[in-house]
Amino acid sequence: MATCQNRRDFIGMAFGGVAAVGGAFALGAMKKTWDPLPSVQSAGFVRVDVSAIQEGEVKTLQWRGKPVFILRKSEQMARNSARDILIGDKVFTLVIGLCTHLGCIPYFEAKSKNFICACHGGVFDASGINTFGPPPRPMDIPPFNIEGETLVLGVEGEAFKTLTAKKA
Ligand code: FES
Repeated sequence: MATCQNRRDFIGMAFGGVAAVGGAFALGAMKKTWDPLPSVQSAGFVRVDVSAIQEGEVKTLQWRGKPVFILRKSEQMARNSARDILIGDKVFTLVIGLCTHLGCIPYFEAKSKNFICACHGGVFDASGINTFGPPPRPMDIPPFNIEGETLVLGVEGEAFKTLTAKKA
């Protein structure tokens, strides 16, 4: 009789354990369902504090599913009044990090201070202007706004409108 009771206890505990583990997995699955997808998170506005970016450093992030490069220009990098973004006394290049040839993702080569596209040898300068190879035009500048030392991607702020007007 005692053996039968022990077996029932064991089976009860085993079922309880399985139910607990199953419940934990179910909660995890529900949380994944409730959380916005990464694609949705990157679909709207993205705020980037640029105060810590060092001279010559590139920060890469994702916005609306696309790579975006923020380069803080160093003294050695040529200025471009039609593309430079001034925040205080700092100068930045902000571009969508897709080659304008066939859409590969270039990388920044610190030595040459150029963005290089490895797919077909395209080269863009530190302002994102195409200077060599098949890319037909500069890298695109995403809409942005400036709030103090924060860049807000996805908003057509005054500085963006001014740059756009210079290009027209
Ligand atoms: Fe960049 Fe062709 S995709 S050079």
